[in-house]
Amino acid sequence: MTTANQSLKPITTQINDDNHIEIGGCDLVELAQQYGTPLYVYDEKTIRTIAQQYKSAFSKYPKVSMLYASKAFMTKAVVRILDEEGFGFDMVSGGEIYTASTAGADMKKCLFNGNNKSYDELQMAVELGVGLISVDNFLELTLLNEVAKSNNKTVDILLRVTPGIECHTHEYIQTGHLDSKFGFDLTQTDEAVELIIDEYKNLNLVGLHAHIGSQIFETTIYYDEVDVLLKEMGRIKTKYGLNLTHINLGGGLGIKYTESDYPPSIDEIADKIITSIHDNAPKYNVELPEIHIEPGRSIIGTSGVTLYTVGSSKQVPNGKKYVAVDGGMADNPRPSLYQAVYTAEVANRPDDKATETVTIAGRFCESGDILIKDVKMPELKEGDILCFYNTGAYGYSMSSNYNRVLKPAAVLVNNSQSDIIINRESYENLVACDVIPERLKK
Ligand code: LLP
Repeated sequence: MTTANQSLKPITTQINDDNHIEIGGCDLVELAQQYGTPLYVYDEKTIRTIAQQYKSAFSKYPKVSMLYASKAFMTKAVVRILDEEGFGFDMVSGGEIYTASTAGADMKKCLFNGNNKSYDELQMAVELGVGLISVDNFLELTLLNEVAKSNNKTVDILLRVTPGIECHTHEYIQTGHLDSKFGFDLTQTDEAVELIIDEYKNLNLVGLHAHIGSQIFETTIYYDEVDVLLKEMGRIKTKYGLNLTHINLGGGLGIKYTESDYPPSIDEIADKIITSIHDNAPKYNVELPEIHIEPGRSIIGTSGVTLYTVGSSKQVPNGKKYVAVDGGMADNPRPSLYQAVYTAEVANRPDDKATETVTIAGRFCESGDILIKDVKMPELKEGDILCFYNTGAYGYSMSSNYNRVLKPAAVLVNNSQSDIIINRESYENLVACDVIPERLKK
């Protein structure tokens, strides 16, 4: 079965009678008029469908917990949707913990992860009853034990390890290879386990955690990841008599940014993982573990699009034609950071033939602020609304106020209804944290 991460567009995308693109039954041109641009548009049906496809793909295995990787895009409405779908949340900061808990997430189902968590963040996680903490390093073992002790609690932990698996994705989003800033090297786990057994009495080690990378198209590396983690579990069991019960495999499944991308389906990944558990658990003499899966991009990426309005253009004599839109690297830094390639269509006349090659530029004061290089589009005019697909993940969550430009709004669409889920920033919001010292006041 194909799954929604393999689709270029939200699953409700269609062209309506006005020859406009619509998503979730909402005309994108009308959304642009009503809410302004740039505008992030999220399709609730796509989010829920992918979440359900994850649950169904893993339903063949009895012990699975789904955690949404909040870093991909977190706002309270998204927490509500995924909480309703039965997901917990993988969180990496006090801000993500605060958002999850104030939106009513089930904190017992959540995990706190990260390579340099502060004492205060650990304190917050323990006080709010976050179910699991993935401990990344030796300092954190000490800090967390102190926090747990002062709260009179025993905290369930995973050890984040680097499994030594390289995936073929952008260097900046690989994490599982040995030379990585994340987690314990497998040569360091013995020392960590011994400290937990002998000294850190308020920590209860229940399993191992790894994440190989992001925007992954290979399936066999998930098989290998399970193999490495089960082998390590078996080794720890033999050496210390400690029965670990959980493995968290991270996220990473890729999505289709362009027609030439062919990410695997969720079922293919699930099958590899489950097969590897059945093959390898007996081999290393460990019980079938509870598994945790932490998808981010593959849940929310395809579900979101960004709308921009076309403004000025420039034809370089004997060179490129640049067409500028009203957003760019501050609302989507991925093209300039990772050379990410996107697909765009004209929302107000999607049927028009692509006749010229243009470079779609952002509005920010940097030559590198290019959203799509050399793409064939219909002749673009001022006022056209461009729909960029697959911007749902790591767009808003990595956005900035570069050039003091206001962050866009986000709306959720479903059954012909649109609701604001993030207000457009105002100039008041923008200066809200600015302070002029008394002596500089005018
Ligand atoms: N779990 C852990 C421990 C992670 O570090 C990540 C992502 C995920 C889960 C979710 O991975 P996903 O399913 O979204 O691939 N900003 C980059 C992506 C960075 C991913 C960091 N970790 C980008 O825009 O491509």
